[in-house]
Formats: sequence, C-alpha cells, structure tokens
Amino acid sequence: MPSAPRPVTNTAADKRWRPVEAAMRRNGYRAGGLIEALHAVQRAYGYIDEAAMRAIGAALQLPLSKIYGVVTFYHFFHLKPKGRHTCVVCLGTACYIKGADRLLQTISREQQVSPGETTADGRLSLLTARCVGACGQAPAVVIDDQVVGQAEESAIHRQLAGLNSAGPGSDEEQP
Ligand code: FES
Repeated sequence: MPSAPRPVTNTAADKRWRPVEAAMRRNGYRAGGLIEALHAVQRAYGYIDEAAMRAIGAALQLPLSKIYGVVTFYHFFHLKPKGRHTCVVCLGTACYIKGADRLLQTISREQQVSPGETTADGRLSLLTARCVGACGQAPAVVIDDQVVGQAEESAIHRQLAGLNSAGPGSDEEQP
C-alpha cells in the first residue's frame, strides 16, 4: 500500500523543498513571490501545512496570518493531504433538487468519511462543489475528474468500490 503523504517538516533537509526555495530565490525573497512559492509547495507535497507556511513566512518576512489568508482564499491550494482518489458531489441547485444531498450522505456513510475529509487510509477524499458544469445531467458527481451524470447511489457505490488503492492512472490491479 502506498505510504501516506509525509508532513512538510525540516524543510532544510528535505529535497522536495528545493523547488520552493528556488521559487523564492527567483523572486528575490520578495513578498510578491508568495503565490509562486505556494504553488511550488503544493506541487512538491500535494498540500500546504503550517510548517510550510511558517518556513515561507520566515523567508519572505510575511506573517503566518497573511499566508494562511492566501492559502485559504484560492481553491487550488489544500491545507490537508488529498486522498489518492477524489469524489466530488455537486450540491448546486440543479443537483440539490435531484437529491444530491442524500447521495452525499450515502457516500459519506458508506465510505466512512465526512464531506471535506479524506478516509483514514488516504484512499478517498469526499468533496462538494457548487456546480461542476453538468447541470443538465443532475445530480452530478465527479470521480477522479470523470463526470458521472444522473448519478445513482448504486452506480456510485460500484464505481467507488472499483477504485484501485494506488490512485488514478495506476497500474495496480484490484484483488
Ligand atoms: S448544479 Fe450540479 S452541475 Fe450544476
């Protein structure tokens, strides 16, 4: 089984931190390089934790509160490790009136994960969205970037059960 993502700690000794350092150096350690540095952390680690924010804050001389504000403002930054697979249930109006909230509750119960969280084994993140651009196929669920329209509980259950444990695109076979 793949290991869970390691936290961003001891940045000086961590090779993954090098592109982050390079991004900050390229921008002369100026505050204007913050977004680029955060992107570098996200790419290297998959998420941005407090240790990373503190390290960037120290290098760019920015308060943690400012960095935290930027990280939480942009949806493409993550504060926690994402699962190897993602299931996004659309809760926009079109999907909601077609029972998306019930679908979400069922998935949450079956997968034993709350919305916005990742399963304990890191296999699946259950997320919600306001609209995934498939209103005509409501209720819509997106599993690993693939839109499932007119989503029914049984079909979603089967699809989630069939996800391999390694992640999208992996060659690992299901037992
Ligand atoms: S409201 Fe769900 S896809 Fe638009």
